[in-house]
Amino acid sequence: MNISILGTGNMASGLAVLFAKAGHAVTLGSRKPAEAETVARALGRGIAGTGLADTAGRSDLVVLAVPYSAVADVLATTGDLTGKTVVDITNPMTADFSGLAIGLTTSAAEEIQKAVPAARVVKAFNTVFAQVLHADGKVAGRPATVFVAGDDAGARASVARLAADVGLDPLEVGGLASARYLEPVAGLNIALGYGLGLGTDIAPTWLRAA
Ligand SMILES: NC(=O)c1ccc[n+]([C@@H]2O[C@H](COP(=O)([O-])OP(=O)(O)OC[C@H]3O[C@@H](n4cnc5c(N)ncnc54)[C@H](OP(=O)(O)O)[C@@H]3O)[C@@H](O)[C@H]2O)c1
Repeated sequence: MNISILGTGNMASGLAVLFAKAGHAVTLGSRKPAEAETVARALGRGIAGTGLADTAGRSDLVVLAVPYSAVADVLATTGDLTGKTVVDITNPMTADFSGLAIGLTTSAAEEIQKAVPAARVVKAFNTVFAQVLHADGKVAGRPATVFVAGDDAGARASVARLAADVGLDPLEVGGLASARYLEPVAGLNIALGYGLGLGTDIAPTWLRAA
């Protein structure tokens, strides 16, 4: 699959390597095209880097790997996203990370869907620390859970398949409004990891009997 990732930071690079290792063609996009090329070259594995405006058009699956506060600016550069699966990995934290900037009667994912109504927005990867992605998606040797929410069942299933494909453990959690739960879960993960000293080698999961 061709996958475009908007952003070149910690999450973008971690996802890019996992996707590329599974055989997907990955393009990273930055507002500084030269920076995207440099990051892509350093990551290797055939990953490409270019300007934001040239990124999304290359793929049917586009990952938003920028701060939630930058999403509106970034979406203004992407061109037409009609029919594309847009994966929202953001956590809309306040600037001091003390809480969520939006919720609980909406979510970043739902606000993004409103901004790009013709795209198929899926919330995923937001509860997985970048450091876990860079550790091959594993915590203590076990694949991290990727909660996947989206109103379009086909798009949701394709993102779940992608997560499984790269060795993560997907769990579909229903429609996009479930992002109202997933974003606070990530907030708790951040509080535990940074505020309460558990570190970033942690990931929330859901235990099942079978
Ligand atoms: N880090 C984690 O463990 C983690 C876990 C789950 C979810 N998330 C979410 O993933 C997203 C990315 O996080 P990250 O840790 O990868 O951040 P990061 O390392 O700081 O990277 C952020 C990326 O966004 C770009 N960006 C920032 N402001 C922009 C703007 N106004 N216009 C265009 N591009 C802009 C940056 O580009 P420049 O280099 O040009 O500034 C950079 O490529 C965030 O929404 C975060 O909440 C993070």
